Amino acid sequence: MLSLLHLIESHLREALDKACLNEFSSECSLGVSLDSDLIAASKPEFGDFQSNIALVLAKHLKRNPREIALSVAKVLEEDLRFLAICIPPEVAGPGFINLTLRQSCIENEVKRILGDSRLGVLSIKAEENQKDYGPIVVDFSSPNIAKEMHVGHLRSTIIGDSLARIFEFRGFQVIRLNHVGDWGTQFGMLINHLKQVAPKALDSADAIELGDLVVFYRQAKKRFDDDELFRSESRQEVLNLQSGEPLSLRAWSLLCSQSRREFQKIYDRLDIKITERGESFYNPYLKQVVDELQASGLLVLDQGAKCIFLENMFGKDGKPLPIIVQKSDGGYNYSTTDLAAIRYRFKPKPIGDGAFRILYVTDMGQSSHFEGVFQIARLANWIPERCLIQHVPFGLVQGEDGKKLKTRSGETIRLRDLLDEAVDRAEIDLRSRLADEGRAESKSFIKNVARTIGFAALKYADLSQNRATSYQFSFDRMLSLQGNTAPYLLYSLVRISGIARKGGELEQVTDNLTFALPQELSLARQLLKFDEVIAFIEEELLPNRLCSYLFELSQIFNRFYDQVPVLKAQPELRNSRLALCRLTADTLKVGLGLLGIPTLERM
Ligand code: ARG
Repeated sequence: MLSLLHLIESHLREALDKACLNEFSSECSLGVSLDSDLIAASKPEFGDFQSNIALVLAKHLKRNPREIALSVAKVLEEDLRFLAICIPPEVAGPGFINLTLRQSCIENEVKRILGDSRLGVLSIKAEENQKDYGPIVVDFSSPNIAKEMHVGHLRSTIIGDSLARIFEFRGFQVIRLNHVGDWGTQFGMLINHLKQVAPKALDSADAIELGDLVVFYRQAKKRFDDDELFRSESRQEVLNLQSGEPLSLRAWSLLCSQSRREFQKIYDRLDIKITERGESFYNPYLKQVVDELQASGLLVLDQGAKCIFLENMFGKDGKPLPIIVQKSDGGYNYSTTDLAAIRYRFKPKPIGDGAFRILYVTDMGQSSHFEGVFQIARLANWIPERCLIQHVPFGLVQGEDGKKLKTRSGETIRLRDLLDEAVDRAEIDLRSRLADEGRAESKSFIKNVARTIGFAALKYADLSQNRATSYQFSFDRMLSLQGNTAPYLLYSLVRISGIARKGGELEQVTDNLTFALPQELSLARQLLKFDEVIAFIEEELLPNRLCSYLFELSQIFNRFYDQVPVLKAQPELRNSRLALCRLTADTLKVGLGLLGIPTLERM
């Protein structure tokens, strides 16, 4: 309904001007911005839209807000173009202007999006003031080589993928980047350790499993911390690698491909598309980054390290906290790499990505890191003026005890096991439901449904939480058919498919629509809000809003379907109601698709 909202907004603005000119004359030219402040009504009894402009204006004019609202309403009541869309406005409480759409207008809007594969969501290519946006970079997932991907990476993967899908749906070019940790000290110690304990791993592919690699990594780390000689040897290994020594490079690339293969298995299972461009990609640019920072006069030498002190960055002890971009031994770090990445991503093609917006989906623990590098990049002039750079932080995944998610024996959970368990549990639930319903289904049906529900539940449980908060992981809750869960949404869709199976010609509905019952109208209204939800997420980057929208849609649909006859309705009503069913199904399918969740015809 965004286009309607904008239209009504323009009528409201005009009415405001007129009302002001007539009644408050020169006072209106006080320089108050006459933004009409139109928002979706907070409750159905307030109509469809609400404006509190009279209250805002009243403050500036020192007038009674109700009086202002009444005179705006009066102007609108006489505006025929406005009356074609809404019934005469109501003034409520201290001076809110409540606007309610006409039934005919709702019917027309539903007609408009009924056959539209975009469900009323405008593509950026169709926007009026067509701007030349560059691509949007979504930096997500980004696990570390030689380490296991953990639930934090899973959260990043799921949220990042959904945001990328939403932007793609809006017509943006999205560059999905996997900024894997594939460079730095960890390789020095790992190569050094493997040379001594498992040299085969360094010159032949598949010599070890990722699981073993993770163990080797832990051992190497321990030796690095405890053993002076090992430490210095490892540092030498890093230098060998960074200076491109062939044997080191080969060992490094074997280790990377080992991990990569494991990560890819997870991406394949979850249907995640992502392009690897790890930290090592920026290695050739690191020196330049430091040189440019030096030339801009931003660097300070602190105990041999090149650092930047930012005005608002303080350590726990209250002292200014430096951000190191080159260590005293000449090495670079995570921040330097991220600076090089920002510089590269904003630089125009072909020497960069020419991005106009960059999003980083990581846990909240990295907030100050990103705040710091964004500030430095801004000072260094690497962020073009019209461009956006944003950290998209998320909270922890906790076990049901409220603590960090662990296995029963207290170890970190492997993603592979987590995915397996989701599917296994979904299968157990499914089999018992089938038994209850006395249904016999084929093995392949059960496998497919269990896999879809298992992964859907896992993704949805994560996405339906406001990402800023930590959430408690619970298989039982996420797999429940009740409440704000993936199975509930999938099941609503299955109900609609059932209508088609029972003879409802969903695909053949005509656009001869009439909605008179409150259940029909509230379903229609909810269906028309899809574009507003997408617009909201584009700004606020909160996919949970799409989840609550879809959940609400399913609830409203289920109420409608339980209370209003569809297949048994009179022919002229049946068509309109089938149209609502079809649009609900399409909206659920597209909406779930934007969350990365495929749907089922039967379950
Ligand atoms: N590899 C990092 C980690 O596991 C995440 C990288 C996020 N992206 C970035 N450009 N820093 O914590």
